[in-house]
Amino acid sequence: MTTERPDTGPEDTGPEGAGPEGAGPPHPGPPGVVVRTARPGDAPAIARLEGLSASTRRALDRDLRRAAAVDADLVALIAEPANGHLDARAADDDRAPRGAETPATGHLDARVAGPAAAVGAALGQVLVDEGHVLDLAVEPALRGRGIGRLLLDRLLAELTQRGARAHTLEVRPGNLAALAVYRAAGFAVEGRRPRYYPDGDDALLLWWREQERRV
Ligand SMILES: CC(C)(COP(=O)(O)OP(=O)(O)OC[C@H]1O[C@@H](n2cnc3c(N)ncnc32)[C@H](O)[C@@H]1OP(=O)(O)O)[C@@H](O)C(=O)NCCC(=O)NCCS
Repeated sequence: MTTERPDTGPEDTGPEGAGPEGAGPPHPGPPGVVVRTARPGDAPAIARLEGLSASTRRALDRDLRRAAAVDADLVALIAEPANGHLDARAADDDRAPRGAETPATGHLDARVAGPAAAVGAALGQVLVDEGHVLDLAVEPALRGRGIGRLLLDRLLAELTQRGARAHTLEVRPGNLAALAVYRAAGFAVEGRRPRYYPDGDDALLLWWREQERRV
């Protein structure tokens, strides 16, 4: 795990139509957004997106260093504006951000904000032949535009390339937006983990299984 990934930069959008083989139609993704492998220097931007505490942020730093190796079991991805600029007020958008927590408008400008202008992030890990989706987050003002699905498809494709034949994750039953994204990508609820979260909330256990996509 010592070989560094080539730094392909913001053009590293991954395989065309990225997504695990057999998944539903890949999301075309929003115009103007590219996905690339995250680097250790992206830790502050990802931490901001995911609302991480200082200690979790230190763990993320370590994770990003691990994910930078070509043969890493960890995959860390970041979505950012292709040309350094993405305006949530774009007039062509009939997919307004949803959810009560989501502002009606938003504006990000990477030319001003630097790396903190990352608009989404995803983290996953391969354990033997299982892919685990550890985190997926999109800038609140830019949700509902396909960025989450774009990141998820790319994450699943990268985990599949590293040997995962099925993918799993935990999500809060009340997280309807996340459930919608995962279901759209082909995940199904297979179980429930009681009191999984520190606040006592249960987790739903979701799986994406290749053979079920093919029947
Ligand atoms: C979950 C999250 C990453 C989704 O990102 P997003 O960019 O808004 O999602 P997308 O726009 O790519 O939507 C993908 C699919 O989910 C659906 N969807 C997204 N948000 C939805 C919502 N609030 N209600 C209903 N459907 C929704 C979309 O319609 C789309 O379906 P389609 O592909 O059939 O058109 C984002 O809401 C987020 O960051 N939430 C906070 C962090 C979080 O909870 N992460 C999950 C941890 S398990």
